[in-house]
Amino acid sequence: MTPATTRPTITRPMASSAPAAVIDVLNGLLEAELNSVFRFMDEGTPHLSRATADVRRPLAEMVETNRRHSAQLARLIESLGGYPLPRSIRPEEQYLAFLSLKFLLPKLANEKRLTIQRYENALKSLGKTAPPDVTSLLMTHIAEHRRDAEILDRAGAEAAKRK
Ligand SMILES: [Fe+2]
Repeated sequence: MTPATTRPTITRPMASSAPAAVIDVLNGLLEAELNSVFRFMDEGTPHLSRATADVRRPLAEMVETNRRHSAQLARLIESLGGYPLPRSIRPEEQYLAFLSLKFLLPKLANEKRLTIQRYENALKSLGKTAPPDVTSLLMTHIAEHRRDAEILDRAGAEAAKRK
């Protein structure tokens, strides 16, 4: 035996219960969160800065939720012995700046629904192979995305009424 093979390997306690497929699925969700429109929204978005506080506040929270979800997914991947490696990150969405709230809100609601679908597909594809931490984090995220989608639907309906 060469010294290299006798050297203790880096301990990855959960590696056996977290096959590459789990890491892959989590990286797919991380990629989706990082590419989400919410990551590119900020207070400087003209129509957003003119919106009332009851719209601005939840949207600012959704931007935060997106950051927190990304960080939680990355940490979970690392805790399973994997590397947070999203395949591609899309460039900033410039067109957001040109959308009035009436058009922006339904778009954001739709984005939330797509995200929920991704999470649900991830849970389905993992099935019973998923470690409990993985299932519980994904279910927490789904619940938060659902609540956000409802807020966006309501705000979108209000914005549509006003014009
Ligand atoms: Fe999420």
